[in-house]
Amino acid sequence: MSSLLDIRNVSKRFTMGGLFGRKVVDAVVDANFSLSAEKPEIFTIIGESGSGKTTLARMILGLEDPTEGEILFRGQKVDRHGRAKRLDFMANVQPVFQNPFEAFNPLKKIERYLESTARRFLHTTDKAVIDKAMDEALQKVGLSLKEVRGRFPHEMSGGQLQRCAIARALIPNPPLLIADEPVSMVDASLRMSIVNLLKSLRDDLGVSVIYITHDLATAYYISNRLIIMQRGRIVEMGDARTVLDNPEHPYSRLLKASVLSTDDAGAGKLATDPAMVSLATDMVGKPGRLVDRADGRSVRVYEGA
Ligand SMILES: Nc1ncnc2c1ncn2[C@@H]1O[C@H](COP(=O)(O)OP(=O)(O)O)[C@@H](O)[C@H]1O
Ligand SMILES: [Mg+2]
Repeated sequence: MSSLLDIRNVSKRFTMGGLFGRKVVDAVVDANFSLSAEKPEIFTIIGESGSGKTTLARMILGLEDPTEGEILFRGQKVDRHGRAKRLDFMANVQPVFQNPFEAFNPLKKIERYLESTARRFLHTTDKAVIDKAMDEALQKVGLSLKEVRGRFPHEMSGGQLQRCAIARALIPNPPLLIADEPVSMVDASLRMSIVNLLKSLRDDLGVSVIYITHDLATAYYISNRLIIMQRGRIVEMGDARTVLDNPEHPYSRLLKASVLSTDDAGAGKLATDPAMVSLATDMVGKPGRLVDRADGRSVRVYEGA
């Protein structure tokens, strides 16, 4: 089976400050997983804020180099240097960001973004061709060029604007989308429509999606597989339902229990029983190792634990 994406022993360390007070953050530590080229899936990355999700996404998008390890797209190393290669890569792996109102300049009509993306990836200035590509992409997200034409970002809801951002990402027909918390800035009432859209991109268009979230409910609903990250390390990985129905790692359990706590809902932070928290945080910083379980998942275990 050939693979679409291979993450091999990938780590990212940020070093800040000067000679004195140097600070090191291990944002991602030894991540390993692969997506198949034959079977589109929604592969979810779960973790509270600061766990390394965005850093991992940025490395996959080629916006950041790993400190160690390598990332292969269709067997080729992701190369963020060199314009032609970069464009070719971007046609295949497209981002959808958290806040659609930040992704669009408030003073520019939405269609300008779609247009420039179409021009860049289709290598054409033919207006009819560009309009057709824009309309097709918008239709895929339940909109049309007619509805969007002439409108500014503030004239749309967050949900509609996020659809436009997804339409823009779909213009080059990428096999892979990286959606970094795509619904966290969208009104709760519109969230499911975006989540369902990601699902239909997989099911109807065969697009694979790396879906980043701290929301276990939507993750459970749309994911095929998932990883749970704690402070840069994958602590559990496997079939989404297997893991979320019965999480094994103490941190996975804590995340599941935290869903019931409304104190910090939406903030991606934990708030729950202190005993559970200490159990789940005792191993932070310890390397441990991922062990395969009979049910197909992998769980990080620690010596002497
Ligand atoms: N450019 C950067 N420079 C320094 N530290 C960073 C940078 N980007 C992220 N970090 C740190 O890396 C860790 C993981 O951050 P991030 O990947 O944004 O997590 P998440 O997306 O899960 O919230 C955090 O401790 C964050 O402060
Ligand atoms: Mg993030």
